[in-house]
Amino acid sequence: MTRLHVNVDHVATVRQARGVGYPDPVTAASLAELAGAHGITVHLREDRRHIQDRDVEILRKTVTTVLNLEMAFTDEIMGIARELGPDITTIVPEKRQEQTTERGLILDDTRSEVTAAKIASMNEAGIRVSLFINAEEDIIRAAADMGAQMVELHTGPYCHARGEEKRRELAVIEKGASLAHELGLAVAAGHGLSTVDVGPIAAIDVVEELNIGHSIVSRAVLVGMERAVRDMLEAMNPHGPTHDPEPR
Ligand code: PXP
Repeated sequence: MTRLHVNVDHVATVRQARGVGYPDPVTAASLAELAGAHGITVHLREDRRHIQDRDVEILRKTVTTVLNLEMAFTDEIMGIARELGPDITTIVPEKRQEQTTERGLILDDTRSEVTAAKIASMNEAGIRVSLFINAEEDIIRAAADMGAQMVELHTGPYCHARGEEKRRELAVIEKGASLAHELGLAVAAGHGLSTVDVGPIAAIDVVEELNIGHSIVSRAVLVGMERAVRDMLEAMNPHGPTHDPEPR
């Protein structure tokens, strides 16, 4: 069964739009867990446009499943991660002008945005490292060589594509996922997924985990967080149980 990590960044986006204390992403995270989410993901961006330091500090104390801290590999955020001790960090490229993460990490020799030393320093603090990458052979091999524990394959191109192109993008993810698995990496996927297109990604047997945010939070505004999470779990696992009977 594929695990669902719910990204609650955009609950904080609504809060920050008014500079008030609500809605609280911490409450949203608890509701998501109650509905069966297997983990909570937040992106502490350098510009603090949505998630704040206070959010991650409280979430570390309240999340009962898995806390995944999405972050850029900068000195400041690495220091915060070491103090906080999330269960896993997902490393992403970050640009101030972007609306959301636009691409996977560059991992080649000359322009790499990640180093083996930085991954090792997170591991030494007891934190697993996942790298958000495009599902390309060279990049997947580089992620394994650098000692990452997991890769999160970028599903944005698949989500945006239509018709034959969508089938091609799905095949790219399937191929990338099996290569990553063969190389001993745990495999996650995410970005842009909704109840409409999550099924084929969740059906890739080596994909263990999905990170989904915007579509769940958007649906939650209309139908509530618990229902939005349950709808996603059902779309991911139409024939199976929607959540583990005994959360960690
Ligand atoms: N995975 C990564 C690495 C991301 O940066 C994001 C966006 O924060 C997501 C997954 C979730 O994407 P979405 O909000 O489109 O579901």
